[in-house]
Amino acid sequence: MSIIAPTAAAIAEAAGLLRSGSLVAFPTETVYGLGGDATNDLAVAAIFAAKGRPAFNPLIIHGPNARSFEEAVIMDERAHRLAKRFWPGPLTMVLPRRPGSPVSLLASAGLDSVAVRVPSHPVALALFEAVGIPIAGPSANPSGRISPTTARHVDEGLGQALAMILDGGPCQVGVESTVIDLSTASPTLLRPGGVTLETLREILGDVWVAGADQPNAPRSPGMLSSHYAPNLPVRLNASNVRENEALLAFGRADGATLNLSPTGDLAEAAANLFSMLRSLDRNEFEGIAVMPIPENGLGLAINDRLRRAAAPRA
Ligand code: TXA
Ligand code: MG
Repeated sequence: MSIIAPTAAAIAEAAGLLRSGSLVAFPTETVYGLGGDATNDLAVAAIFAAKGRPAFNPLIIHGPNARSFEEAVIMDERAHRLAKRFWPGPLTMVLPRRPGSPVSLLASAGLDSVAVRVPSHPVALALFEAVGIPIAGPSANPSGRISPTTARHVDEGLGQALAMILDGGPCQVGVESTVIDLSTASPTLLRPGGVTLETLREILGDVWVAGADQPNAPRSPGMLSSHYAPNLPVRLNASNVRENEALLAFGRADGATLNLSPTGDLAEAAANLFSMLRSLDRNEFEGIAVMPIPENGLGLAINDRLRRAAAPRA
């Protein structure tokens, strides 16, 4: 397919494709994004169609800096504080939609909020500068499947639907951005990700955790229980490996098929998570057993993805 090295010429071409309504996959530090013009209903509809994504699940809007979202959303003092500390970086903020916002209502699933993020990847930032319009960018995988951390993963899942895939190498963080809802008075963590809850609490004080603190309020429409799913069944917190199972280890372990991080480093484990799940998802195994991962720091995001990968399939 059209996996392209991100030269200046390729980035200019990608910007032109986006402006004309085509879809371009771009690298970020978290996972690859499936980009389209966020102000163009047809481009946004093409994103939903390419992913097979339910239309109630809104998209994240990307830009090269906080200023680029001025017309789209209303940033309060908390949002500016977070932007200053974490952008560019793996943080997405859900903010009130500004009246007259140019962002397609389809992109935000008709909600009165819009999710925005400035990723930390030179290719993404150059692309957003060049294109000059907000870019809708869900992870570049078919809905419900494992997110892509290389250009090849993108091509395998969505190649047919894309005008171009910009190859920025393997993603350094490897799990998606943290999504925090600032559209209400109490900041709420909607999705654990590359920025840890501990660091967010340092900046904001109290942060609620959706699900845990508000069991009756599924605030992030995209947090479906089965997601990130390989074809094989996934068994969590494994202390042993059964016959014909692959063992995805963490820390020192005997008999590991693959090891997320032999030294028990959560950042390394996050960076390896999706590509290792993909490479273990083979017919020669009957399932994937995963060793326990500590529930702190990046472990929150890793365990969230693993629980969804192991959830009963719809
Ligand atoms: O790391 C990332 O965030 C990647 C890269 C490409 O930036 N993008 C990504 O997008 O993970 P996606 O579409 O796979 O996940 C977006 C999440 C979904 O859970 C969605 O429901 C939530 O953000 N979201 C988007 N807009 C929202 C809104 N207005 N209110 C609540 N949740 C929202
Ligand atoms: Mg996704």
